[in-house]
Amino acid sequence: MKNLLVTGGMGFIGANFIRYLLYESDFKGSVVNVDLLTYAGNMDNLAGVEKEFPDRYRFVRCDICEREKMQEIFDRFKVDSICHFAAESHVDRSLVRPDAFIQTNIVGTFRLLEIARGLGGGLELFHHVSTDEVFGSLGDEGSFTEETPYRPNSPYSASKAASDHLVRAYSKSYGLPVTISNCSNNYGPYQFPEKLIPLVILNALEGKPMPVYGDGRNIRDWLYVRDHCSAIWAIMKEGRRGDTYNVGGNNEMENIDVVRLVCDILDEFCGLYEKEPRRTLIEYVKDRPGHDRRYAIDSSKLTGELGWNPQESFATGIRKTVRWYLDNRLWVDRVRSGEYKAWIEEQYGSRPGRKLG
Ligand code: NAD
Ligand code: TYD
Repeated sequence: MKNLLVTGGMGFIGANFIRYLLYESDFKGSVVNVDLLTYAGNMDNLAGVEKEFPDRYRFVRCDICEREKMQEIFDRFKVDSICHFAAESHVDRSLVRPDAFIQTNIVGTFRLLEIARGLGGGLELFHHVSTDEVFGSLGDEGSFTEETPYRPNSPYSASKAASDHLVRAYSKSYGLPVTISNCSNNYGPYQFPEKLIPLVILNALEGKPMPVYGDGRNIRDWLYVRDHCSAIWAIMKEGRRGDTYNVGGNNEMENIDVVRLVCDILDEFCGLYEKEPRRTLIEYVKDRPGHDRRYAIDSSKLTGELGWNPQESFATGIRKTVRWYLDNRLWVDRVRSGEYKAWIEEQYGSRPGRKLG
């Protein structure tokens, strides 16, 4: 893998992955990061990286759905491998406006596969980053394995499921060298504050109510983002071509316990909020429609075959994450004020046809 295309590299996981590749891993090649910079794409996430790695890192703003422009990028950078993160990623948004999910997650993946197919023997790997949400919801027992049938429940998870199927089909039908990872909920630095953990950290910090959906007892299996990045890299290097791997942190938690823990850590780090524990700011709100009850991942295939193990427990990872949001107020203030978006418009202009954010 000499010339790696990373799609969606200005988003939460993609940016962490590019940092991991360049600063921590044994990857020796170069990265071209293609991102449309939607509301979720933030150039601050990779501030300084272009300067630090002028020969190994480039950014191009482009919509993965635009076949001709993407073909030009493949040609110009002599792309030989792909790690595909670009997606619309937030379940709540998919419930209100599913269109962009169908377009980017399904059509966008299809366009990339078609270009990759055109590379023939020049393609080393197409790695597709997916989610455990494609498997649907679990009862009290058991966990998702690579054999669990797909039963997606939201437009987001259905669109990811469709893209997984396309990637698999291109492997079976055309012999594309692909790998797929299905990962549980991530948390950590640079996560856009619409997702539960950063939203709760920032609201609790500022004394705003923290919305907990339904009875707060839905369960997610949390994984620190750096552990996800190391798993993806292990799969890209050593994973069996044509195979899928589940990635999870063995950290099942009820949402209400996650929110309470964040409150307690903030009380410890910053003191009480107006003499009250932050837990008093928790507010139960109307449940999400079709809200999946429980996710849990069995990652024994990944551990057994590739020796991967997560390094953070939820107890250690969440403290690091809260500390990161406290120590990076500038990033937080810019993401919240939309200042970075105005800067992007200045640099790149707005794109006709597709609204930004
Ligand atoms: P994110 O929303 O933070 O980032 C998505 C990125 O994709 C953004 O930078 C955005 O600008 C870019 N993008 C969107 N549409 C595009 C398009 N048409 N063309 C080019 N770029 C486009 O998402 P994330 O949380 O970093 O998730 C990354 C990937 O990992 C997604 O595929 C998601 O399904 C998957 N995943 C996420 C989680 C999680 O907990 N966040 C867990 C498992 C899997
Ligand atoms: P989220 O971070 O949106 O990830 P996902 O829906 O992909 O799992 O939500 C995580 C869990 O937290 C999920 O069960 C929904 C719940 N949640 C809330 O209770 N309140 C909120 O404000 C948000 C955004 C999510």
